[in-house]
This record gives sequence, structure tokens and C-alpha cells, in this order.
Amino acid sequence: MRTLRDIPALRETLGEHRRQGLRIGLVPTMGNLHDGHLALVETARRHADVVVATVFVNPLQFGPSEDLDAYPRTLEEDQAKLEAAGCDLLFAPTVATLYPRGLGEQTRVCVPAVSEGLCGGSRPGHFDGVSTVVSILFNLVQPDIACFGEKDYQQLAVIRKMVIDLHLPIEIVGVPIVRAEDGLALSSRNGYLTPEERSAAPELQRTLASLRYSLEAGDPVEATLESGLTRLRQAGFEPDYLELRAADLGAVTDLTREAVLLAAARLGNTRLIDNLTLTLP
Ligand code: PAJ
Repeated sequence: MRTLRDIPALRETLGEHRRQGLRIGLVPTMGNLHDGHLALVETARRHADVVVATVFVNPLQFGPSEDLDAYPRTLEEDQAKLEAAGCDLLFAPTVATLYPRGLGEQTRVCVPAVSEGLCGGSRPGHFDGVSTVVSILFNLVQPDIACFGEKDYQQLAVIRKMVIDLHLPIEIVGVPIVRAEDGLALSSRNGYLTPEERSAAPELQRTLASLRYSLEAGDPVEATLESGLTRLRQAGFEPDYLELRAADLGAVTDLTREAVLLAAARLGNTRLIDNLTLTLP
């Protein structure tokens, strides 16, 4: 696996692959890779000939009081994991390479409606940063397919809408959430948890599973979500949101069947997110 840090080398290598008619698959990441990221690489391998991963901690998607500086940067370990997972090319640019004019003057991509509320509500500007960097990566790599995890359910919806609205000829492939044995969704931010917090963390997924059971049995939505918030607080979480939405993230109506429960909650200083899809009666 080759690691490329600059744009001309990336364009040249990929241009050659494209001239040979090879299908290119893209897996964008911020690094500190775990088995969730590697599942995206494996999925990309099934859909494409050449798999390109990117590692870039994108300052544009972090709020002023968020963990940009503390975000774990582990490029050497990431390279070894990607190579073992069968990735062909790693693009790991610097901030100055992707944003040569600085963040303030950077042209941005905004995907309205689906970026609002949920994580977009508690992290203003976050999804504009995500859609901007993903647009840049799409333009640089020009992939046939790109893989994103269902763990970041709203992010996946934002990217799907962006690709439709901008008429990009890229197939977006969603990959199911990879979890630890106790149910906690794998995340680079799990490394911030103290041992006590780590043992409380799976309660987020257990709460969602229990709410899903009640909602699928026809229990009233508002009271069920309220009981979920209480349960999370009792487990030591400070919930950001706990919502039931239609699978496309629209509001739930009497006609909604395919739905999704989404939660974000803080455990100490660490913000965890999770979601479960369900079928309403
Ligand atoms: P990052 O948090 O590194 O995640 C990269 C990709 O891995 C995302 O598509 C995310 O949904 C997926 N992923 C993370 N944990 C997962 C898990 N447990 N199971 C399945 N997939 C998982 O998401 C980002 O980076 C950034 O916002 C990015 C898209 C790279 C833009 O900067």
C-alpha cells in the first residue's frame, strides 16, 4: 500500500487506474482506525478494484470547544491496519494541502434540511464541514463508489443528499455499525473513556434496544422516549438528544413504518452517538 500526501501524486496514480478502466472505491476517515473503519475497507473491496482510504482530521467540522487538538493521530498504526485490510492507496494530506487559503476563506458546501437538528443541532456548522471535505475528497479521488458507516446515520443521510443534489456520479454504500462484544458502537472517541465510563457506555445501546422493543410493540412514542432519557441519566449520561425519526430522518407520521432511534449523550467529557433502525406497527 502506498501513502500519498500531496494532490499531484494522487491525481497521477488514480488517473492511471482510471485509464485502465478500474473501479475506484473511497473510504474517508479521520484515522485512529478500528474494526468499524476496516469494515468499510472490506466493503469497498467488494465493490471496487482499487480501494483508496483517506486519513484527515478535518478542522472544518470541529466546533471551537471540541476535541480537534486532542483527536488521536496514529498514522503509522493506521497504515499497518489499512495494509492488512487490503487497502491499495492511502491519501493523508495536511491541512495546508486541502485548505491552502486557510479555513476562513474556504468555499463550503451546505446540505440544508437533513443537516439540521440531531447532531447538526448540538454541533452548529459540523455538517457543513463534513460535506465540504467530502466534496473535496470526491473531486480529488473521483471514486465510482464511497463507503460510509451507519453509525453516523445523519452524516450518511447528508452525503446521500449531497450526491443527489450535486448530480455526482458516485454510488454511496452504507455499512452496518460494528460493535464491541458488550454492544458499544466502536468509535475513535471511546479511547477518551475512563474505565468506569467504559463499563457504563454500553447502556446507551441497551437503552436504544429496549426502546425499540417497546416502540415495535406499539407503546406511545413520547412516554417511551421520556423513559429512555431517564434511564440514560440514571446510568450517568447527559443526553444531547434522543429522537425517533422516519428512516429518511423526516418526522414520524401515522404512516411511518421504517424508522430510526437516534441518540447522542455525554459520558463525562466524551460525546457518544448511536442509533438503531426499527419497524413501527
Ligand atoms: P470517522 O469518525 O473517522 O469515521 C470514518 C467512517 O467510519 C465514517 O463513515 C463512519 O460512519 C465510519 N464508522 C466509524 N465507526 C464505525 C462503526 N463502529 N461501525 C461502522 N462504521 C463506522 O466520519 C468521519 O470520520 C468524518 O466525518 C469524515 C466522513 C471522514 C469526514 O471528515
